Amino acid sequence: MSEIENKAENGSTESAGECTTGDTKDDKGLGLGVIFFIVAFIVCFLSGTLLFPKLLYSKKEQPFNFDHELHVGEAGDCDACHSLRDDGSFTGIPKLETCLDCHSEEPMGETDDEAIFTQEYVVKEKEVPWLVYSRQPDCVYFSHAAHLLGKDEMDCASCHGPIGESTSSRPYEENRLTGYSRDIWGKNIFGIKKNSWDSMKMDDCAECHKEKNDQKGYCFQCHK
Ligand code: HEC
Ligand code: HEC
Ligand code: HEC
Ligand code: HEC
Ligand code: HEC
Repeated sequence: MSEIENKAENGSTESAGECTTGDTKDDKGLGLGVIFFIVAFIVCFLSGTLLFPKLLYSKKEQPFNFDHELHVGEAGDCDACHSLRDDGSFTGIPKLETCLDCHSEEPMGETDDEAIFTQEYVVKEKEVPWLVYSRQPDCVYFSHAAHLLGKDEMDCASCHGPIGESTSSRPYEENRLTGYSRDIWGKNIFGIKKNSWDSMKMDDCAECHKEKNDQKGYCFQCHK
């Protein structure tokens, strides 16, 4: 007697007695199938959630580390570096000129980051090529003034998260397919968000506009 027949026979004696040998064989096939399915599912799920984002995004470091906490303490306020001009345009990331209010060709401290900053940019009078985490595609029109001056006066963190309190610049992650910053789609591969700043997709902008202004959102509002 072969091993399979042997097992089948055992199976049929253990069962209530009505089962045929064939049935037991099918059950076993089904059991293996289920196991195979579960294993395949786990493999696909893990590669989809863990590996796919790794392959999809490439990481780039900022030119050197920028310590927001230290600088907010020194400069007093976000306004010292990021503010609205009289014409309503936003200064964005400050130019070298703003840094030179305090920094000169002689570093104040002894950190490597300050050394890179002084040698590569201050001495050479070169602008720092900062990577902008929140950068939107070119087809999107965004105005800080509309959001900072309006009746709602939103704080920076509601869209950017707690960057203003950080002590180091995180890496910039670029989507290899679209070339967009990861901050647009967000960290979560399924697009689930816990905080208002976790993603800034079209839907995220539109959701808040609907909530705050009860606007439907005409395309030309955000696309010029
Ligand atoms: C001394 C100047 C200075 C001050 C003061 C300052 N920042 Fe910045 N900020 C920078 C520089 C330089 C960068 C670019 C480097 C980086 O992203 O870490 C930056 C980047 C940012 C960004 C990232 C934008 C993006 O999408 O890439 C946000 C948001 C921001 N600052 C918010 C704040 C807030 C909020 C405060 C006040 C609590 C503040 N900053 C105070 C200089 C400053
Ligand atoms: C209000 C004055 C002030 C302004 C404006 C300012 N800094 Fe600083 N910065 C400081 C002081 C003070 C330190 C601390 C020096 C030390 O002890 O290392 C510092 C330190 C640094 C360091 C080293 C910090 C570290 O943790 O390694 C870097 C890099 C730096 N600044 C870059 C910049 C850049 C870029 C700008 C312009 C966007 C800027 N700073 C604008 C005052 C300023
Ligand atoms: C947290 C809420 C919120 C988020 C997120 C938000 N907005 Fe807004 N937005 C507003 C509010 C409120 C106004 C109206 C301001 C006012 O008139 O008082 C506005 C106004 C605007 C306007 C001016 C509209 C006009 O008719 O003049 C534009 C353009 C705009 N938003 C684009 C965007 C884009 C693009 C995004 C996403 C990247 C975005 N907004 C994300 C709340 C938000
Ligand atoms: C309603 C959401 C929202 C609010 C509130 C908001 N931002 Fe932004 N911010 C954005 C978006 C979206 C971009 C990208 C704009 C683009 O790419 O055209 C941006 C870009 C920036 C940049 C990079 C600009 C550049 O072009 O270099 C800085 C710096 C910044 N924001 C700082 C701030 C600070 C500081 C505050 C608070 C005073 C603030 N933001 C409030 C949504 C917001
Ligand atoms: C509240 C602002 C807002 C409104 C209103 C809006 N969009 Fe968008 N749209 C965005 C933002 C922000 C992005 C970039 C982020 C993304 O891809 O989700 C975008 C991206 C897109 C893209 C993809 C472009 C690319 O390069 O990835 C298309 C296409 C588009 N919008 C079409 C439309 C059309 C059509 C309408 C009108 C029915 C519309 N949008 C209304 C904010 C808006």
